Amino acid sequence: MEYADLLIENHGKVAVIRLNRPKAMNALNDNMMNELGDALYKFDADPGVNVIILTGSEKVFAAGADIAAMANYTYADTYQGNYIGRNWEHILNVRKPVIGVVAGYALGGGCELAMMCDFLIAADSAKFGQPEIKVGVTPGAGGTQRLPRTIGKSKAMDMLLTSRMIDAAEAERTGLVSRVFPAESLMEEALKVANTIADMPVSVAMAVKDSVNRAFETTLTEGVRYERRFFHAGFGTPAQKEGMSAFLEKRKPNFEGM
Ligand code: CAA
Repeated sequence: MEYADLLIENHGKVAVIRLNRPKAMNALNDNMMNELGDALYKFDADPGVNVIILTGSEKVFAAGADIAAMANYTYADTYQGNYIGRNWEHILNVRKPVIGVVAGYALGGGCELAMMCDFLIAADSAKFGQPEIKVGVTPGAGGTQRLPRTIGKSKAMDMLLTSRMIDAAEAERTGLVSRVFPAESLMEEALKVANTIADMPVSVAMAVKDSVNRAFETTLTEGVRYERRFFHAGFGTPAQKEGMSAFLEKRKPNFEGM
């Protein structure tokens, strides 16, 4: 796959998508978001890929929506043109696990895009922020919604209202990221995490993701009912037979193609 604003790497069952507009701090523009949707859907449909990593460069994940591209937009351009809605949320339709791997800045739309990933791994150099207020707008890709759900209202309000950035340690403390690694070993460590998941049965990983995401959209009782259906439906599948037989036979399971 060849893209103008993305770099693609294949690491066996793990596909890596790198945001790549180095001259503009990986600012997210239409072309990049269209390409990202295309790449995500291709990997989601590729039976050889079990996990997708979305990352940026060593310096920046993404510094937000492209301010130069949107500075002259009118309300009609954005509302009728469905700005953001038209191409930023493809990632939410991806059914395989997507890990966001962040080094350097993840600001504004960059932080929002990161929060659309299933979980985040950060370098110790990472900085997260929602500085939209400084350019005179509210966040538009979920910052006021996903951030408080993830790190709590007080920290989220603080970040959103003051535009204060938080570093990797604070991001880990607040639950925005799951793990932090030294910047030098970030990709190596992230690939280890991704490969651990890629060796699990992809059908179960997809169901776990689906079920966790349900938690944010429904009541606890309905969410547990949803999970229970997946659990019951798992019985009789190759993954369940292999996983439980391997445990009882004291061997490593082989979930290839499951
Ligand atoms: N859009 C367009 N271009 C951007 C950009 C952005 N969001 N962020 C950085 N750039 C460009 C700069 O204009 C600059 O270009 P030139 O070299 O042509 O002048 C280049 O990238 C390098 O940037 P800096 O010189 O500013 O680099 P720095 O190291 O001094 O600072 C930074 C880095 C802190 C990330 C700073 O660039 C910055 O604050 N960027 C803007 C962050 C921001 O406000 N993001 C929110 C955007 S609004 C949004 O995202 C809406 C939404 O919710 C969907």
